[in-house]
Amino acid sequence: MSHAWRPLFVVLAVMISIIVFRVIFVPSDFVAKNGDYKFQWHRLSSEEVWKNFPVKHKGRDFCQQCHSELVNKIKDSGHQHVQCENCHAMFEPGKKSHPIDLKDDFGYLLEIGIERSRELCKRCHAELPYRPQTYVITKGTTAETVKFKMIDPTKHNPGIECVMCHDVHSAGFKTAGK
Ligand code: HEC
Ligand code: HEC
Ligand code: HEC
Ligand code: HEC
Repeated sequence: MSHAWRPLFVVLAVMISIIVFRVIFVPSDFVAKNGDYKFQWHRLSSEEVWKNFPVKHKGRDFCQQCHSELVNKIKDSGHQHVQCENCHAMFEPGKKSHPIDLKDDFGYLLEIGIERSRELCKRCHAELPYRPQTYVITKGTTAETVKFKMIDPTKHNPGIECVMCHDVHSAGFKTAGK
Protein backbone atom coordinates (compact mmCIF):
# COMPACT_ATOMS: atom_id res chain seq x y z
CA MET A 1 0.00 0.00 0.00
CA SER A 2 1.30 3.44 -0.90
CA HIS A 3 2.48 5.55 2.02
CA ALA A 4 0.21 8.32 0.63
CA TRP A 5 -2.86 6.45 2.00
CA ARG A 6 -1.77 6.62 5.63
CA PRO A 7 -2.82 10.25 6.30
CA LEU A 8 -6.18 9.42 4.74
CA PHE A 9 -6.79 6.73 7.39
CA VAL A 10 -5.99 9.24 10.11
CA VAL A 11 -8.49 11.71 8.65
CA LEU A 12 -11.13 8.98 8.34
CA ALA A 13 -10.55 7.89 11.94
CA VAL A 14 -11.01 11.46 13.17
CA MET A 15 -14.21 11.88 11.14
CA ILE A 16 -15.67 8.63 12.37
CA SER A 17 -14.94 9.49 16.00
CA ILE A 18 -16.65 12.88 15.57
CA ILE A 19 -19.74 11.17 14.14
CA VAL A 20 -19.77 8.55 16.89
CA PHE A 21 -19.36 11.26 19.54
CA ARG A 22 -22.25 13.25 18.06
CA VAL A 23 -24.59 10.26 17.88
CA ILE A 24 -23.88 9.29 21.50
CA PHE A 25 -23.70 12.67 23.23
CA VAL A 26 -25.88 15.17 21.32
CA PRO A 27 -29.56 14.84 22.32
CA SER A 28 -31.85 13.81 19.49
CA ASP A 29 -33.96 16.97 19.89
CA PHE A 30 -30.97 19.28 19.43
CA VAL A 31 -32.05 20.84 16.14
CA ALA A 32 -32.20 24.11 14.24
CA LYS A 33 -35.77 25.22 14.94
CA ASN A 34 -37.75 26.39 11.88
CA GLY A 35 -34.67 25.74 9.77
CA ASP A 36 -32.97 28.79 11.33
CA TYR A 37 -29.38 27.60 11.44
CA LYS A 38 -28.03 30.92 12.62
CA PHE A 39 -29.88 31.57 15.87
CA GLN A 40 -32.12 28.62 16.61
CA TRP A 41 -29.83 25.69 17.34
CA HIS A 42 -31.04 24.37 20.66
CA ARG A 43 -32.44 21.41 22.55
CA LEU A 44 -36.20 21.70 22.05
CA SER A 45 -37.01 20.12 25.41
CA SER A 46 -35.11 22.93 27.15
CA GLU A 47 -38.01 25.24 26.26
CA GLU A 48 -40.25 23.33 28.68
CA VAL A 49 -37.55 23.39 31.35
CA TRP A 50 -37.38 27.19 31.20
CA LYS A 51 -41.16 27.57 31.04
CA ASN A 52 -41.37 25.65 34.31
CA PHE A 53 -38.50 27.53 35.96
CA PRO A 54 -39.90 29.07 39.15
CA VAL A 55 -40.04 32.87 38.94
CA LYS A 56 -38.88 34.47 42.18
CA HIS A 57 -39.59 38.17 41.75
CA LYS A 58 -43.27 38.65 41.02
CA GLY A 59 -43.49 42.41 41.02
CA ARG A 60 -46.03 44.82 42.41
CA ASP A 61 -49.06 43.07 40.95
CA PHE A 62 -48.53 40.18 43.31
CA CYS A 63 -48.33 42.38 46.43
CA GLN A 64 -51.34 44.35 45.22
CA GLN A 65 -53.68 41.45 46.03
CA CYS A 66 -53.37 42.38 49.71
CA HIS A 67 -51.55 45.74 49.80
CA SER A 68 -53.59 47.67 47.25
CA GLU A 69 -53.55 50.81 49.41
CA LEU A 70 -49.74 50.92 49.53
CA VAL A 71 -49.42 50.04 45.87
CA ASN A 72 -51.67 53.00 44.99
CA LYS A 73 -49.83 55.27 47.37
CA ILE A 74 -46.42 54.48 45.90
CA LYS A 75 -47.67 55.13 42.36
CA ASP A 76 -47.84 58.86 43.16
CA SER A 77 -44.40 58.95 44.72
CA GLY A 78 -40.77 59.28 43.73
CA HIS A 79 -40.53 55.53 44.18
CA GLN A 80 -43.18 54.83 41.55
CA HIS A 81 -40.72 52.88 39.44
CA VAL A 82 -39.16 50.95 42.31
CA GLN A 83 -40.61 47.52 42.93
CA CYS A 84 -41.60 46.56 46.49
CA GLU A 85 -39.25 43.60 46.31
CA ASN A 86 -36.31 45.94 45.76
CA CYS A 87 -36.61 46.99 49.39
CA HIS A 88 -38.56 44.17 51.02
CA ALA A 89 -36.97 40.97 49.70
CA MET A 90 -34.57 39.85 52.44
CA PHE A 91 -31.65 37.62 51.68
CA GLU A 92 -30.28 37.32 55.20
CA PRO A 93 -31.85 34.55 57.22
CA GLY A 94 -33.71 35.92 60.21
CA LYS A 95 -34.86 39.14 58.55
CA LYS A 96 -38.08 37.62 57.36
CA SER A 97 -41.06 39.14 59.15
CA HIS A 98 -44.02 38.75 56.80
CA PRO A 99 -46.99 37.70 58.93
CA ILE A 100 -48.49 35.51 56.21
CA ASP A 101 -46.63 32.53 54.81
CA LEU A 102 -46.47 33.39 51.13
CA LYS A 103 -44.50 30.27 50.29
CA ASP A 104 -47.02 27.62 51.26
CA ASP A 105 -50.12 29.47 50.17
CA PHE A 106 -48.88 31.29 47.07
CA GLY A 107 -45.74 29.44 46.01
CA TYR A 108 -43.85 32.71 46.56
CA LEU A 109 -40.13 32.03 46.90
CA LEU A 110 -38.62 35.24 48.34
CA GLU A 111 -38.50 36.15 52.02
CA ILE A 112 -40.27 39.42 52.83
CA GLY A 113 -39.21 41.63 55.72
CA ILE A 114 -38.40 45.24 56.62
CA GLU A 115 -34.98 46.84 56.45
CA ARG A 116 -34.64 50.24 58.11
CA SER A 117 -30.90 50.75 57.85
CA ARG A 118 -29.23 53.56 55.90
CA GLU A 119 -27.51 50.83 53.89
CA LEU A 120 -30.73 50.00 52.06
CA CYS A 121 -31.20 53.55 50.80
CA LYS A 122 -27.51 54.12 50.08
CA ARG A 123 -27.66 51.30 47.58
CA CYS A 124 -29.51 53.65 45.24
CA HIS A 125 -29.04 57.16 46.67
CA ALA A 126 -25.38 57.42 47.62
CA GLU A 127 -23.39 59.69 45.33
CA LEU A 128 -20.68 57.69 43.67
CA PRO A 129 -18.32 59.06 41.02
CA TYR A 130 -19.03 56.24 38.59
CA ARG A 131 -22.80 56.24 39.07
CA PRO A 132 -24.95 57.83 36.33
CA GLN A 133 -26.51 61.19 37.27
CA THR A 134 -29.61 60.64 35.17
CA TYR A 135 -31.76 57.80 33.99
CA VAL A 136 -34.35 57.36 31.26
CA ILE A 137 -37.96 56.33 31.74
CA THR A 138 -39.72 55.06 28.63
CA LYS A 139 -43.49 55.08 28.47
CA GLY A 140 -44.76 53.79 25.16
CA THR A 141 -42.93 55.84 22.56
CA THR A 142 -41.89 58.74 24.80
CA ALA A 143 -38.66 58.74 26.73
CA GLU A 144 -38.06 61.06 29.66
CA THR A 145 -34.66 61.79 31.16
CA VAL A 146 -34.81 62.20 34.93
CA LYS A 147 -32.13 63.39 37.31
CA PHE A 148 -31.48 60.86 40.03
CA LYS A 149 -31.64 62.42 43.50
CA MET A 150 -28.37 61.58 45.20
CA ILE A 151 -27.11 62.48 48.62
CA ASP A 152 -23.70 62.30 50.22
CA PRO A 153 -24.35 59.90 53.11
CA THR A 154 -21.37 61.24 55.07
CA LYS A 155 -22.97 64.73 55.11
CA HIS A 156 -26.71 64.08 54.80
CA ASN A 157 -27.86 63.60 58.42
CA PRO A 158 -25.28 60.93 59.27
CA GLY A 159 -26.09 58.48 62.03
CA ILE A 160 -29.86 58.83 61.73
CA GLU A 161 -31.94 56.25 59.89
CA CYS A 162 -33.33 57.72 56.68
CA VAL A 163 -36.83 56.48 57.52
CA MET A 164 -36.87 58.67 60.64
CA CYS A 165 -37.52 61.60 58.30
CA HIS A 166 -38.51 60.17 54.91
CA ASP A 167 -41.73 58.33 54.16
CA VAL A 168 -40.53 55.70 51.71
CA HIS A 169 -43.88 54.84 50.21
CA SER A 170 -44.63 58.43 49.33
CA ALA A 171 -40.96 59.44 49.13
CA GLY A 172 -41.87 62.63 50.88
CA PHE A 173 -41.50 63.47 54.53
CA LYS A 174 -43.03 62.01 57.61
CA THR A 175 -45.26 64.55 59.23
CA ALA A 176 -46.28 64.60 62.85
CA GLY A 177 -49.27 62.41 63.63
CA LYS A 178 -49.03 60.37 60.43
C1 HEC B 1 -52.12 37.18 50.87
C2 HEC B 1 -51.99 38.56 51.21
C3 HEC B 1 -50.63 39.20 51.14
C4 HEC B 1 -49.77 39.24 50.07
C5 HEC B 1 -49.91 38.58 48.70
C6 HEC B 1 -48.67 40.07 50.47
N1 HEC B 1 -48.86 40.51 51.76
FE1 HEC B 1 -47.62 41.68 52.87
N2 HEC B 1 -48.85 41.53 54.48
C7 HEC B 1 -50.10 40.96 54.47
C8 HEC B 1 -50.75 41.20 55.77
C9 HEC B 1 -52.16 40.77 56.15
C10 HEC B 1 -49.82 41.93 56.55
C11 HEC B 1 -50.02 42.45 57.99
C12 HEC B 1 -50.79 43.72 57.99
C13 HEC B 1 -50.00 44.85 57.38
O1 HEC B 1 -48.92 45.18 57.85
O2 HEC B 1 -50.50 45.41 56.38
C14 HEC B 1 -48.64 42.11 55.72
C15 HEC B 1 -47.50 42.78 56.11
C16 HEC B 1 -46.45 43.12 55.29
C17 HEC B 1 -45.26 43.82 55.69
C18 HEC B 1 -44.93 44.28 57.09
C19 HEC B 1 -44.12 43.20 57.74
C20 HEC B 1 -43.76 43.53 59.17
O3 HEC B 1 -42.67 43.13 59.58
O4 HEC B 1 -44.55 44.19 59.84
C21 HEC B 1 -44.50 44.01 54.58
C22 HEC B 1 -43.16 44.71 54.49
C23 HEC B 1 -45.19 43.38 53.47
N3 HEC B 1 -46.37 42.84 53.93
C24 HEC B 1 -44.73 43.37 52.18
C25 HEC B 1 -45.28 42.64 51.16
C26 HEC B 1 -44.75 42.59 49.83
C27 HEC B 1 -43.52 43.34 49.35
C28 HEC B 1 -45.55 41.76 49.10
C29 HEC B 1 -45.37 41.35 47.66
C30 HEC B 1 -44.12 40.71 47.32
C31 HEC B 1 -46.59 41.27 50.00
N4 HEC B 1 -46.40 41.84 51.23
C32 HEC B 1 -47.59 40.40 49.65
C33 HEC B 1 -50.66 40.26 53.43
C34 HEC B 1 -50.05 40.01 52.19
C1 HEC C 1 -37.63 52.33 48.67
C2 HEC C 1 -37.84 51.17 49.46
C3 HEC C 1 -39.24 50.63 49.63
C4 HEC C 1 -40.15 50.36 48.65
C5 HEC C 1 -40.01 50.53 47.16
C6 HEC C 1 -41.29 49.80 49.32
N1 HEC C 1 -41.10 49.78 50.67
FE1 HEC C 1 -42.40 49.16 52.08
N2 HEC C 1 -41.16 49.80 53.56
C7 HEC C 1 -39.88 50.25 53.35
C8 HEC C 1 -39.31 50.64 54.63
C9 HEC C 1 -37.91 51.18 54.84
C10 HEC C 1 -40.31 50.38 55.62
C11 HEC C 1 -40.23 50.70 57.10
C12 HEC C 1 -40.78 52.10 57.22
C13 HEC C 1 -40.67 52.74 58.54
O1 HEC C 1 -40.25 52.12 59.50
O2 HEC C 1 -41.02 53.92 58.57
C14 HEC C 1 -41.45 49.83 54.91
C15 HEC C 1 -42.63 49.42 55.51
C16 HEC C 1 -43.62 48.69 54.88
C17 HEC C 1 -44.76 48.06 55.51
C18 HEC C 1 -45.06 48.10 56.99
C19 HEC C 1 -46.21 49.01 57.32
C20 HEC C 1 -46.01 50.41 56.87
O3 HEC C 1 -46.89 50.91 56.14
O4 HEC C 1 -44.99 51.04 57.21
C21 HEC C 1 -45.48 47.44 54.53
C22 HEC C 1 -46.78 46.66 54.68
C23 HEC C 1 -44.79 47.68 53.26
N3 HEC C 1 -43.67 48.44 53.50
C24 HEC C 1 -45.21 47.21 52.04
C25 HEC C 1 -44.70 47.65 50.81
C26 HEC C 1 -45.30 47.36 49.52
C27 HEC C 1 -46.51 46.51 49.30
C28 HEC C 1 -44.54 47.98 48.58
C29 HEC C 1 -44.75 48.05 47.09
C30 HEC C 1 -45.98 48.70 46.67
C31 HEC C 1 -43.44 48.64 49.28
N4 HEC C 1 -43.60 48.43 50.62
C32 HEC C 1 -42.43 49.37 48.67
C33 HEC C 1 -39.24 50.37 52.14
C34 HEC C 1 -39.84 50.26 50.90
C1 HEC D 1 -33.85 50.40 44.21
C2 HEC D 1 -33.42 51.77 44.28
C3 HEC D 1 -33.91 52.64 45.42
C4 HEC D 1 -33.84 52.38 46.76
C5 HEC D 1 -33.33 51.12 47.46
C6 HEC D 1 -34.32 53.57 47.43
N1 HEC D 1 -34.68 54.51 46.49
FE1 HEC D 1 -35.36 56.41 46.87
N2 HEC D 1 -35.61 56.72 44.89
C7 HEC D 1 -35.29 55.82 43.89
C8 HEC D 1 -35.70 56.38 42.61
C9 HEC D 1 -35.51 55.70 41.25
C10 HEC D 1 -36.26 57.64 42.88
C11 HEC D 1 -36.89 58.59 41.87
C12 HEC D 1 -35.84 59.36 41.15
C13 HEC D 1 -35.32 60.42 41.99
O1 HEC D 1 -36.12 61.23 42.47
O2 HEC D 1 -34.11 60.48 42.17
C14 HEC D 1 -36.18 57.83 44.32
C15 HEC D 1 -36.58 58.99 44.98
C16 HEC D 1 -36.40 59.22 46.35
C17 HEC D 1 -36.64 60.48 47.03
C18 HEC D 1 -37.11 61.75 46.37
C19 HEC D 1 -38.59 61.71 46.29
C20 HEC D 1 -39.30 62.84 45.62
O3 HEC D 1 -40.52 62.73 45.62
O4 HEC D 1 -38.66 63.73 45.07
C21 HEC D 1 -36.38 60.29 48.35
C22 HEC D 1 -36.49 61.30 49.47
C23 HEC D 1 -35.97 58.90 48.51
N3 HEC D 1 -36.00 58.28 47.28
C24 HEC D 1 -35.64 58.32 49.71
C25 HEC D 1 -35.29 56.98 49.87
C26 HEC D 1 -35.08 56.35 51.14
C27 HEC D 1 -35.21 57.04 52.49
C28 HEC D 1 -34.73 55.05 50.88
C29 HEC D 1 -34.43 53.95 51.88
C30 HEC D 1 -35.51 53.57 52.75
C31 HEC D 1 -34.73 54.88 49.44
N4 HEC D 1 -35.09 56.07 48.86
C32 HEC D 1 -34.40 53.70 48.79
C33 HEC D 1 -34.69 54.60 44.05
C34 HEC D 1 -34.45 53.98 45.25
C1 HEC E 1 -32.99 64.25 59.94
C2 HEC E 1 -33.88 63.98 58.84
C3 HEC E 1 -33.30 63.30 57.60
C4 HEC E 1 -32.62 62.11 57.55
C5 HEC E 1 -32.20 61.21 58.69
C6 HEC E 1 -32.37 61.86 56.14
N1 HEC E 1 -32.88 62.88 55.38
FE1 HEC E 1 -32.92 62.98 53.35
N2 HEC E 1 -33.68 64.84 53.42
C7 HEC E 1 -34.06 65.49 54.57
C8 HEC E 1 -34.47 66.86 54.23
C9 HEC E 1 -34.97 67.90 55.20
C10 HEC E 1 -34.34 66.97 52.81
C11 HEC E 1 -34.65 68.18 51.92
C12 HEC E 1 -33.58 69.21 52.04
C13 HEC E 1 -32.28 68.72 51.51
O1 HEC E 1 -32.17 68.45 50.30
O2 HEC E 1 -31.35 68.57 52.33
C14 HEC E 1 -33.85 65.69 52.35
C15 HEC E 1 -33.62 65.38 51.02
C16 HEC E 1 -33.32 64.11 50.56
C17 HEC E 1 -33.30 63.71 49.17
C18 HEC E 1 -33.64 64.57 48.00
C19 HEC E 1 -32.46 65.35 47.55
C20 HEC E 1 -32.80 66.19 46.32
O3 HEC E 1 -31.93 66.30 45.47
O4 HEC E 1 -33.91 66.67 46.24
C21 HEC E 1 -32.93 62.40 49.14
C22 HEC E 1 -32.78 61.51 47.91
C23 HEC E 1 -32.72 61.98 50.49
N3 HEC E 1 -32.97 63.04 51.34
C24 HEC E 1 -32.36 60.71 50.85
C25 HEC E 1 -31.99 60.36 52.14
C26 HEC E 1 -31.34 59.12 52.48
C27 HEC E 1 -30.98 58.03 51.49
C28 HEC E 1 -31.12 59.12 53.82
C29 HEC E 1 -30.41 58.08 54.66
C30 HEC E 1 -29.08 57.66 54.17
C31 HEC E 1 -31.68 60.37 54.33
N4 HEC E 1 -32.17 61.10 53.28
C32 HEC E 1 -31.71 60.74 55.67
C33 HEC E 1 -34.06 64.97 55.85
C34 HEC E 1 -33.46 63.79 56.22
